[in-house]
Amino acid sequence: MAIGGKAVPLSFVAHALAVAGAVMVLVWCIYFLGGLAWEATNKALIFNLHPVLMLIGLVIIGGQAIMSYKSLPLRKEVKKVIHLVLHAIALILGIIGIYAAFKNHNESGIANLYSLHSWLGIVLISLYGIQWIYGFLVFFYPGGTLGLRSASLPWHVLFGLLVYVLVVGNAELGFLEKLTFLESSGLAKYGAEALLVNFTAIVTILYGVFVVMTALSQPPPEEDYGYSAI
Ligand code: HEM
Ligand code: HEM
Repeated sequence: MAIGGKAVPLSFVAHALAVAGAVMVLVWCIYFLGGLAWEATNKALIFNLHPVLMLIGLVIIGGQAIMSYKSLPLRKEVKKVIHLVLHAIALILGIIGIYAAFKNHNESGIANLYSLHSWLGIVLISLYGIQWIYGFLVFFYPGGTLGLRSASLPWHVLFGLLVYVLVVGNAELGFLEKLTFLESSGLAKYGAEALLVNFTAIVTILYGVFVVMTALSQPPPEEDYGYSAI
C-alpha cells in the first residue's frame, strides 16, 4: 500500500518532532525529575532512565530506522544496513530501558509486571526482537530464497508498522501512568511539569503518525541518488 505524498518532506516533519520529543523527555527527566543514574540511593533516578531510553531508543531511533528506506539519499544495499543497525540500536536501548524499570522496582521493593503498560511492553519488545531476527535471517544473512523474500516482504512491512504503532501507543500509556502517579502524590494538575508530560506524549503520537506516513509515501526517484561525478 502506498499514498501519494512525497516521503522526504514528510520525513523532515518527523525529524523536527523527533528533536522536540527528545529534548522534552530529557528536560522532564533531568530538570523536573532530578536526573538519570544507574546506581543511586535515590532509586527514582534509576527509573528516569526508562522514559528516556524508551522514547529516544525504541520510539525515535526505531522510527528513523523505518523511515531510512524512504528518506535517505543512498543506495538500497546501504539503506538496508542502516535499517537493520538502527533497529538493532533501538532494540538494545529498549531492552536496557526496560531493565532500568525492573532495576528500580527491585531495588525499591515495588512489584513487577502488574500493569497493562508493563504487560504490553514485554509482548512488544519480544515481537520487536522476533521481527528483527526474522528480517536479518531472511533479508540479510544468510538470506532467504527469492520466493521467500518476496512472500515475506509485505508481512515484514505490515508487522513492522503494527508493532511500531503499538510501541507508540504503549509509550502513551507509560506517560499517562507516570503522570497519574505524580499527580496522586501532589503534582499540580495544570502545572508546568504536567503540561510538559502531556505535550511530550502528543509530540510522540505526531512523530509516530509522520513515521508511518513517510513509510507509506512515495520514495524519491532512484536515479536522483545514483553515482555522480564529483
Ligand atoms: C514505548 C516503550 C515502552 C515499553 C516497551 C515499556 C515497558 C515497560 C515495562 C516492561 C515495564 C515493567 C517493569 C517492571 O515490571 O518492573 C514498565 C514500567 C513502567 N513504565 Fe514503561 N515502557 C515504555 C515506555 C514508557 C514511557 C515513555 C513511560 C513514561 C514515563 C513509561 C512509564 C513506565 C512506568 C511509570 C512504569 C512503572 C509502573 C509499571 O510497571 O507499569 N514507560 N515499562
Ligand atoms: C524490529 C525490527 C524491524 C522493523 C520494525 C522493520 C520494519 C520495516 C518497515 C516498516 C519497512 C517498510 C519501510 C518502507 O517501506 O519505507 C521495512 C522494510 C524492509 N526491511 Fe525491515 N524492519 C525491521 C528489521 C529488519 C531487518 C533486521 C532487516 C534485514 C535486512 C530488514 C529488512 C527490510 C527490507 C529488505 C525492507 C524492504 C525495503 C524495500 O525494498 O522497500 N528489516 N522494515
